[in-house]
Amino acid sequence: MSDRPDGGRGGAVFGWPPLREELRDVEPYGAPQLPVPVALNVNENPYGPSEAVVRDVADAVARVAGTLNRYPDREFSELRAALADYLGAEAGVSLVPSQIWAANGSNEIMLQLLQAFGGPGRTAISFAPTYSMYPEYARDANTGWVAGRRREDFSFDLDEARRLIGEHAPSVVLLPSPNNPTGTALPHEVIGELCELAPGIVVIDEAYAEFRRDGTPSALELLPHHRNLVVTRTMSKAFALAGARLGYLAASPELTDALRVVRLPYHLSAVTQAVALAALRHREELLGRVADLRAERDRTVDWLVEQGHEVAPSDANFVLFGRFEDRQRVWQGLLDRGVLIRVTGPEGWLRVSVGTPEEMAAFTDALTETTAELGIQPGTETTNQSTTEETR
Ligand SMILES: Cc1ncc(COP(=O)(O)O)c(C=O)c1O
Repeated sequence: MSDRPDGGRGGAVFGWPPLREELRDVEPYGAPQLPVPVALNVNENPYGPSEAVVRDVADAVARVAGTLNRYPDREFSELRAALADYLGAEAGVSLVPSQIWAANGSNEIMLQLLQAFGGPGRTAISFAPTYSMYPEYARDANTGWVAGRRREDFSFDLDEARRLIGEHAPSVVLLPSPNNPTGTALPHEVIGELCELAPGIVVIDEAYAEFRRDGTPSALELLPHHRNLVVTRTMSKAFALAGARLGYLAASPELTDALRVVRLPYHLSAVTQAVALAALRHREELLGRVADLRAERDRTVDWLVEQGHEVAPSDANFVLFGRFEDRQRVWQGLLDRGVLIRVTGPEGWLRVSVGTPEEMAAFTDALTETTAELGIQPGTETTNQSTTEETR
């Protein structure tokens, strides 16, 4: 008799492959990666780095290449200092390196937060429509998941939050601001009240913060007032560095320090640290296109409204618009014309990332042709939002 848990019967007890029960038949994350001329589906920055930045990044990698026989700086001290400096300048706040943590994309940051502050017997909550990956991180960290709802206009409903937080006592509240997929930013009063109400941590995911409109504040300003507040950021969007995988957070030093328990040893490679530091040295240039993208976003919103579409006001680098009785057909019509956008959010809505002026012209042309072909009069189609689910 074998001493394997299945008695040597090759997975007969657990099934094959011997996956965790709750992972059976789950489709892996998969925004389509299609070779299209105009990709406006994953909220990337369309502007690649200049020759000068490419050279500096390559030199930085060449310098560490000779030391790759050694493990990297486990505490990535230089990078934490550089990120504290950047956030301080960007949001007009004062931060010290011990308040900063970084990982391979803000996805990994979120998973680490749930590993440290969620876990069996604990619950994380968010309010839909919200970022579709959160429930998956919660599942992977064996954390219960509860999703409340935003109002019909996607604004935040504090009464609903009071009710749900009272009912579930979540150890983690997770909210993107600006929200993905709606682009809606949270006011300070909401974040402040959530921090007071929540028995655990409140994570404000500011992946798109640099695109916020004038007058929209960053949750970073509230850090001195709430010890349970965590603000996450990423270099994937405004910094045009999605390929490098660098996400980070700012929080109280005690919260930040707790993450050292769950992180994998040396989780941030020497190459990643070198690339991120080089990018931060060139932040003016890399962030230089943010103003252009914000202007292009506002032009896109205006155009969609003029055509008669419903549009969610956006503080991000994407726009949610609709509603369509059959959004899949509209999405397909755009794809047939070489423009890839995203089917996401409540039923009937579509999301387009903001690209270059040429890409947005391709998008508006393709949408005009598609709606004409399908006989859609923008603004006349309705859907029942309350009965629908998020999709990716
Ligand atoms: C709200 C939100 N948070 C986090 C992420 C993850 O970003 P990354 O892991 O590239 O830092 C995304 C990516 O689209 C996002 O939309």
